[in-house]
Amino acid sequence: MLSVSNLSVQFGKRILFDEVNTKFQQGNCYGIIGANGAGKSTFLKIISGKQDPTSGQVHLETGKRMSFLNQNHNEFDEYLVLETVIMGNKDLFKIKKQIDQLYADYSDENAEKIGELQIVFEEMNGWNADSEAAALLSNLGVSENYHYSEMKDLDGKQKVRVLIAQALFGNPDVLIMDEPTNDLDFETIAWLENFLANYDNCVIIVSHDRHFLDAVCTHISDIDFSKINHYSGNYTFWYESSQLAAKQRAQQNKKSEDKKKELEEFIRRFSANVAKSKQATSRKKMIEKLNVEDIKPSSRRYPAIIFDQDREAGDQILNIEGLSKSFEGEKLFNDVHINLNKGDKVAVISKNSRAVSAFYQIITESQKADSGKFSWGVTTTQSYLPLDNSSFFLDGNLNLVDWLRQYAQTEEEREEVFIRGFLGKMIFSGEEALKKSNVLSGGEKVRCMLSRMMMKRANILLLDEPTNHLDLESIQALNNSLINFKGTVLFTSHDHEFSQTVANRIIELTPNGIIDRYTTFDEYISDPKIKELREKMY
Ligand SMILES: Nc1ncnc2c1ncn2[C@@H]1O[C@H](COP(=O)(O)OP(=O)(O)O)[C@@H](O)[C@H]1O
Ligand SMILES: [Mg+2]
Repeated sequence: MLSVSNLSVQFGKRILFDEVNTKFQQGNCYGIIGANGAGKSTFLKIISGKQDPTSGQVHLETGKRMSFLNQNHNEFDEYLVLETVIMGNKDLFKIKKQIDQLYADYSDENAEKIGELQIVFEEMNGWNADSEAAALLSNLGVSENYHYSEMKDLDGKQKVRVLIAQALFGNPDVLIMDEPTNDLDFETIAWLENFLANYDNCVIIVSHDRHFLDAVCTHISDIDFSKINHYSGNYTFWYESSQLAAKQRAQQNKKSEDKKKELEEFIRRFSANVAKSKQATSRKKMIEKLNVEDIKPSSRRYPAIIFDQDREAGDQILNIEGLSKSFEGEKLFNDVHINLNKGDKVAVISKNSRAVSAFYQIITESQKADSGKFSWGVTTTQSYLPLDNSSFFLDGNLNLVDWLRQYAQTEEEREEVFIRGFLGKMIFSGEEALKKSNVLSGGEKVRCMLSRMMMKRANILLLDEPTNHLDLESIQALNNSLINFKGTVLFTSHDHEFSQTVANRIIELTPNGIIDRYTTFDEYISDPKIKELREKMY
């Protein structure tokens, strides 16, 4: 369908791609992964013709159409919503415009041209364009009231949905998306997962969202060492099988046939689980064809995130009575009563992200509630990852070693060797440990903040959107560490997989009280009774 030959890309001295040769096939969905700055977005821009490579070719099969999910949310501000969607099929849109113009300037001569154009238009199924575009929009939750509004009158969330409809419009043969789930709510992501899982054409996606990658991908395309390698299976298969292979490589005494058997058994169990899942059929069949030969040991480095507690908390954890908060006249949450139990891992959610952040700030005493009270158990110690960490990085003179030293608790921890070792495990090695703390990228800052939390060895962890800015490796490592943590956790995350695998209790903050359930995240969002309740409470 789409082939890439001898592709090289270089910016100054930096080589992003070196003689890449690869193919993307009809019917497959490729999830492109790679470290921050590895070149994922650049690769998508090059295969879609938005950017030229340094050398090499990209070839799309003749007669096939490609579409790209636009990242610039404001590019279509001057157009109507429905029109923006139809523009997803450029050729069709052009003919439609021409016909409209000829009608506006009607003459015998133009009538003949109109007739010719209408034949082509009909062949392209143009008469159904408006209704198809409208159906896509409605499925994505953009109601008919907006179909003839101008794009600039929509809010950010609505715009993203229109742009997704634009990319999907007219069933492109190759669909390319760069981080499509950013800025989408769970319901819309679920719709997109389901849509793409049933989509038979070639899809190429960059995403950090593991749940999304698992739901839609038949292949994982790993960008590393300036090359791209495709692996059969979804993200979880890629992650777990490559970890297993890496472990096997270290077991030198184990017989190779035993290793092979172990991998085959792994594939068998994995495929059985996929078959049981609700995943849509056409993609599912692809994932069932997995081979031992496709499994390669991972060379990826994952940060060593381990949360230990200095001492276990007693039974009194946190008691909240009648807590309320408004902001600029808007009620964030009201009359909140919560009794936290030891070992609870609570996903705190709300349709209003400000409500969640205010809640964390109040119970960590960096903001005051309007009314109500809370008390932490005397044996508890808290450590908090705020949504906005900028106040921790104001002193530009500190290098990372000195920055982290501020949070050392013992003489041993103040030693350079100790801190260097610690930073090394968080993948700041050698020279990187001497970077100034105010030049760090968003993801690096979060890794520093997590290091600070690990040093604190608290028995209660509070995390407000910890996965923002993190790469897949760090998300995976943090996810595993919270599953294994023996203490109590309150967290909020847009990452579906994270919420599903960590939480055993869900608390939703609304302007009219809370919904509080001991259940998993998936059960919570799919329960029809809770859905009904949620609609009433906002
Ligand atoms: N036009 C450009 N000129 C110079 N450097 C660039 C340009 N575009 C991207 N880069 C650099 O190339 C690297 C890869 O960028 P990108 O493709 O956005 O990475 P990813 O999407 O994998 O995070 C980054 O280090 C980025 O700064
Ligand atoms: Mg990118």
